[in-house]
Amino acid sequence: MRDLTVAFGDKVVLDHLDLDVFRGEILGVIGASGSGKSVLARAIIGLLPRQTGTVEIFNEDVGALAPDARRLIERRWGVMFQHGALFSSLTVRQNIQFPMREHLQLSESLLDELAMLKIAMVGLKPDAAEKYPAELSGGMVKRAALARALALDPELLFLDEPTSGLDPISAGEFDELVTTLQETLDLTVFMITHDLNTLDAACGRIVALAHGKLIATGPAAALIASNDPWLRSYFQGPRGRTIFSSANQAHRPSTDKLAG
Ligand SMILES: Nc1ncnc2c1ncn2[C@@H]1O[C@H](COP(=O)(O)OP(=O)(O)O)[C@@H](O)[C@H]1O
Ligand SMILES: [Mg+2]
Repeated sequence: MRDLTVAFGDKVVLDHLDLDVFRGEILGVIGASGSGKSVLARAIIGLLPRQTGTVEIFNEDVGALAPDARRLIERRWGVMFQHGALFSSLTVRQNIQFPMREHLQLSESLLDELAMLKIAMVGLKPDAAEKYPAELSGGMVKRAALARALALDPELLFLDEPTSGLDPISAGEFDELVTTLQETLDLTVFMITHDLNTLDAACGRIVALAHGKLIATGPAAALIASNDPWLRSYFQGPRGRTIFSSANQAHRPSTDKLAG
């Protein structure tokens, strides 16, 4: 993206941002609550109007696509939104099949086979297929939402705080799942997260969003060790400490490295 500005009224949320996301990386996006992380993800995929700038995905200017071309490119990315990840009135199987029905013409038996494949891929048991979201644990809901985001075999995956609300063990397992899928499916992942363990364990590179700008970019370890005042307070402030201590209780493996 180049020179991306998104504003609501006179409130500028993203202020002339430039960002490259490289094929095959897991990019972590951090920033305080309300800093515009979700807006950034939505603006990239063209769900929010922008005041300035261009976004190119797979060498296409996503702001200038005809509807047919737009539908074709939409099939190549998957999105797991922060809230309302699943339709509550549909089973897990129906949720996963929803994007397939929108974009592909497949027989019912093939749709069922594909849904079961995605369910297995995210580590859910087959009997999750006929359950409704309300019947699932928090971790299972996230996995089902991930399965739906992967329904069309995307090359690019957007995850908006995928582990928020999970206990540290479930969060750690989800991170491992994302890392494994990224490697096996050769995905590019744009992951918004508050979880310091996620950042350290899963993300190759991190960008920090503050005051409408991308204030820092680099490997997790470099940002965590940085002397920049904003980064210091982000990683070492009360929120960072809370995450460290809850992670410690659960013995998540990357904690020692982070805390040290
Ligand atoms: N559709 C919208 N209309 C008006 N303001 C919005 C809209 N979406 C987000 N905002 C505002 O943009 C700012 C950034 O929101 P968001 O991207 O959700 O933050 P976060 O970093 O927590 O994901 C917030 O102040 C939010 O209120
Ligand atoms: Mg958000």
